Amino acid sequence: MQVFLENVHKYYNRGGEREVHALKDVSLRVKEGEVVCVQGPSGSGKSTLLSIIGCLYPPTSGKAVVSGRQLSRLPDHFLTRHRRENIGFIFQRFNLIESISVLENITLPLLPLGITPKQRNHKGRELLAQLGIGHREKFRVDKISGGEMQRVAIARALICDPVLILADEPTAHLDSELSHQFMESMMALKAQGKTIVITSHDPLVTTHHLCDNLYTMHDGHLREGRHQ
Ligand SMILES: Nc1ncnc2c1ncn2[C@@H]1O[C@H](COP(=O)(O)OP(=O)(O)OP(=O)(O)O)[C@@H](O)[C@H]1O
Ligand SMILES: [Mg+2]
Repeated sequence: MQVFLENVHKYYNRGGEREVHALKDVSLRVKEGEVVCVQGPSGSGKSTLLSIIGCLYPPTSGKAVVSGRQLSRLPDHFLTRHRRENIGFIFQRFNLIESISVLENITLPLLPLGITPKQRNHKGRELLAQLGIGHREKFRVDKISGGEMQRVAIARALICDPVLILADEPTAHLDSELSHQFMESMMALKAQGKTIVITSHDPLVTTHHLCDNLYTMHDGHLREGRHQ
């Protein structure tokens, strides 16, 4: 079992004036090699769910086991390492460093691995070429388009060859052709046995044969199937 959530609750600002109960009794199982898609309206808790699976923070209560690790039992530095070694996260807001180049951004996750700059750059260039943005490698991230940023974020998530890929609205900034290309690259990763969890509103994604299971989030609740 790659992802196992049981009765997970997540509160933001618990006990405060701006308390939000973002996940309500969420249970989810994702097997190794499975592709799961989560749809749902804005504010329903999709990014929060992905952040917990991505080990960015533990649930407020409930059990979360990701790639064999129970999150609430791990100290921060273990979580960071676990995340780096196993998980590729494509963030909704990209989380790229705008003041450095495209190539520098996507090779950053390789730094702790102790490989040479030449090897890092080679790997980075290969990925950029696959994603059709090789010509942007030297550009600062704040000087490229939204669709290009989306692809840089995808490249950065894939560079460490993660076993678990989490993609938060990955086609939101891509046109139809690039969205199809993205789905093709996900199909190839699925064929390699990767586990993938995608959140999306995009019908291209939610109805695609890539997805083994579709879930719908509504006001913090997760339900199997299409409930809209
Ligand atoms: N860091 C935070 N602090 C406080 N509240 C938050 C935080 N992040 C999200 N929330 C709240 O938690 C709820 C779920 O948010 P979340 O971002 O998970 O929804 P979403 O389904 O991803 O929405 P969207 O489709 O707009 O990306 C929302 O009410 C949101 O306002
Ligand atoms: Mg979101």
